[in-house]
Amino acid sequence: MNENFKMLAKTLFGFEELLAKELRALGATNVQIGVRNVSFVGDNGFMYKANMALRTAVRVLKPIKSFNVTSEDDLYRQLQYIKWDEYLDVDGTFAIDAVANSDNFTHSHYLALKSKDAIADYFRKKYDKRPNVDVKHPDLQVNIHIQKEYCTVSLDSSGDSLHKRGYRSATNIAPINEVLAAGLVLHSGYDGTQNFIDPMCGSGTILIEAAMIANNIPANINRREFGFEKWNDFDEDLFDVIRNSLLKKVKESDSVLIGYDKAPSAVRKAIENIKNAHLEDFIKVSQENFFTTEKEVEGKTIVLFNPPYGERLEIDVPIFYKEIGNTLKRGYPNTNAWLITSDFSGGLKSVGLRTSRKIKLYNGKLECRLVKYEMYEGSKKAKYNN
Ligand SMILES: C[S@@+](CC[C@H](N)C(=O)[O-])C[C@H]1O[C@@H](n2cnc3c(N)ncnc32)[C@H](O)[C@@H]1O
Repeated sequence: MNENFKMLAKTLFGFEELLAKELRALGATNVQIGVRNVSFVGDNGFMYKANMALRTAVRVLKPIKSFNVTSEDDLYRQLQYIKWDEYLDVDGTFAIDAVANSDNFTHSHYLALKSKDAIADYFRKKYDKRPNVDVKHPDLQVNIHIQKEYCTVSLDSSGDSLHKRGYRSATNIAPINEVLAAGLVLHSGYDGTQNFIDPMCGSGTILIEAAMIANNIPANINRREFGFEKWNDFDEDLFDVIRNSLLKKVKESDSVLIGYDKAPSAVRKAIENIKNAHLEDFIKVSQENFFTTEKEVEGKTIVLFNPPYGERLEIDVPIFYKEIGNTLKRGYPNTNAWLITSDFSGGLKSVGLRTSRKIKLYNGKLECRLVKYEMYEGSKKAKYNN
């Protein structure tokens, strides 16, 4: 039962190094960085731990078979060699997630259909009946990945994407993905020893992820379910042991986390989400216009936010971003300020501060930059552009 096997954690572009670092810290071996993924080795218990604790992983896959394929018929045949009844009961349900990066397979929808037929027919031949497909809540989520002629079949141990942490109520604000928020915080170097401010906090995602990092709270402690909990080999006692050992490592940081938003509805939503995450003792949110604020804490401080982008929300981009630069200059000395935006020309150019770092990332399909401004006091103001 305690055998080691290879797994693949998928992530967002630009977070591969962060994820590898998280995996090593958790105790993974053979950690290898790919594009939008990191492979590693561990046992079942580690797979539970990875799902529970990783902040920058979107899902954790367990490959069960790899082979060469050149056509859909070929794939159908190869899939029938897998002993599916070891993983799924005939009365259970399954779903297929198929991705192909290959000239031979250009329709991933058709690929998924063909794979579904192969699994259904495997059962039909053996049991004269077949498991049903349930795309929303399957007992087994199968992942088919084809790279040129190389196909990897994996079981998705996460089920739903790991960004669904379980603390967020429905929202009409443009919220940032939780995995993206966690990665931004880790990129900023925040570790709970500095103060932390999100001055345009919307529904509070960045603050919540930051507070969980500060207190070493497992990223998915509030989540209702993981895919592996429905697997035939699920070991509930082991899962409890892993969960409890992660909870023992929770520490209480005395870092102050502060959020502002000028919209009362956003402030209400942030407070609700923070309560859902049981973090109300660590995060203080108030209704403020960032442009009229000044830093209200002493000592090392990180400011991190995703301001509105022109694409999503109605603002005059150059004026708004210029005001961001002015506010940081005026009110936030001795601060490392980070922001993520997709507004390169009108937005970033208008901030009027020199960036000390620029990281390419994506917010959904939007190409973005996470940029850093180092705000000094006194003579070092020379760092400014204008
Ligand atoms: C892209 S949203 C942030 C989303 C947030 N990260 C989340 O996860 O929900 C931008 C937020 O900036 C707020 N905002 C716009 N102008 C502001 C200002 N001058 N001061 C404070 N908040 C502002 C908006 O109300 C909106 O909630």
